[in-house]
Amino acid sequence: MRRKLIAGNWKMHGSLTSNAGLLAGISAGIGAESGAPQCEVAVCVPAPYLAQCQSLLQDSRLAWGAQDVSAHAAGAYTGEISAAMLQDFGCRFVIVGHSERRAYHGETSAVVAHKAQRALAAGLVPIVCVGETLAERESGATGAVVQEQLQAVLEVVAPVDTAQLKNLVLAYEPVWAIGTGKTATPEMAQEVHALLRARLAAADAEAAAGIRILYGGSMKPENAADLLAMPDIDGGLIGGAALKAEDFLAIVRAA
Ligand code: PGA
Repeated sequence: MRRKLIAGNWKMHGSLTSNAGLLAGISAGIGAESGAPQCEVAVCVPAPYLAQCQSLLQDSRLAWGAQDVSAHAAGAYTGEISAAMLQDFGCRFVIVGHSERRAYHGETSAVVAHKAQRALAAGLVPIVCVGETLAERESGATGAVVQEQLQAVLEVVAPVDTAQLKNLVLAYEPVWAIGTGKTATPEMAQEVHALLRARLAAADAEAAAGIRILYGGSMKPENAADLLAMPDIDGGLIGGAALKAEDFLAIVRAA
């Protein structure tokens, strides 16, 4: 049985003051949920606020993480943040290969794969995002696109980190559903999740059964329960709805 994971992706939002309120609200909410241990909950915050999470969430069940990590271990890479640094700040998770990084920062599937590998090697859980654009979906290329994105990760991670592969988390995020209010139907999402799991199983059947595949793209309190009821949807990566404690907690409850 895979333990569900609900992870917030705050993107470039927040301030010390507003974060304090949001973190307190989420922590209090999940602390009070009787069924909460069945579901893991995390927030992925802008890097400058990791120290704030570390100090405020020490005794909370709420985990935290970053939104990107360097593909390099250390060195002359101005502006980059290494996996070891994220570990220093108590991160458990790091989002890797979000479509906004692929689109605006030129991250290729190969770069994303090396980032995932660095995260795993440092004991972090990478949340590797895959997903098709609207044009790709309309031309019937969804399966090919997400499989190519996953394949790149498997080629780098699987041979090096066989034991670590099970710690990987995937997130299927159709680009056309991110921040648009358009959600994939539960059936559309399930079809892609099943395809991803089958591809994982071809690489490592045991790992595939345990790897969590999250759905992301306008998941909100109104649609979360139906999406999360699908057999291969193991949680959510939540953007907009993660910025309001009450909406985020409603999704956690649905999980
Ligand atoms: P959204 O974002 O929930 O606002 O659509 C999801 C994401 O980009 O991870």
